[in-house]
Amino acid sequence: MKSNNSIIRLFNVSKRYGAKYALQDVSLEIQKGEFVFLNGPTGAGKSTLLKMLYLAETVSEGQIIVNGMNLARISRSKLALLRRRFGMIFQDFKLISNRTVFDNVALVLEVAGEKPGYIRKKVMHVLRTANMEKKVHSYPPMLSGGEQQRVAVARAMAGNPSIILADEPTGSLDAEAAQATMDFIMKYHEKGVTVIIASHDIQLISRTVKARSILLKDGILQNTATML
Ligand SMILES: Nc1ncnc2c1ncn2[C@@H]1O[C@H](COP(=O)(O)OP(=O)(O)OP(=O)(O)O)[C@@H](O)[C@H]1O
Ligand SMILES: [Mg+2]
Repeated sequence: MKSNNSIIRLFNVSKRYGAKYALQDVSLEIQKGEFVFLNGPTGAGKSTLLKMLYLAETVSEGQIIVNGMNLARISRSKLALLRRRFGMIFQDFKLISNRTVFDNVALVLEVAGEKPGYIRKKVMHVLRTANMEKKVHSYPPMLSGGEQQRVAVARAMAGNPSIILADEPTGSLDAEAAQATMDFIMKYHEKGVTVIIASHDIQLISRTVKARSILLKDGILQNTATML
């Protein structure tokens, strides 16, 4: 296969739970630096697709290639490296309540074995970019939903991922907080990070220029039009 600028390729990918297909025969190519919305009604397979990409679910049929690596054949050591290339963001933020904002972000870098000096600098940098530098000593339950999500995005960005995968990142936020979160994600996208967001929010999607919208219905890919 000729190499090109694609960072993610799916070849006839299906996912079955028992006899039921959550995704069926999905072929898709995502270029480096693209901004993609994964759109579609509830149960369409959006979360399933993201889970297969970040290796939380296995593929039933077909192949997924990320950064030239076949996810089905990847060695354990490469798997750990590949996981670090992904930054994950979820609807319910998944912050640790009894850790400060600073520690929530620092934890991923500590696990990755980074040095304390680097960690301090990096954590403060991503939190400043998120406009959260005044809340570094706060605990997540003391923050609004929008603030918590911006901390979660900062945490996802701290490891310098090349791909951001977000599952309904604005699903529990009001319109203003949702836009602030999107603006923050967009800052990183503009630096070249590939972004894939599963979302129901048609308004948010239509406001995001130059994003590609991918529509899933009943596990089947409907279109991959570029929005203008
Ligand atoms: N662990 C599982 N076991 C069995 N079926 C599952 C499992 N996870 C998902 N499914 C089924 O796969 C289909 C796709 O689910 P998925 O969560 O990907 O949809 P979605 O598009 O993310 O929906 P939503 O917009 O509600 O989040 C659904 O029919 C769902 O019931
Ligand atoms: Mg979902």
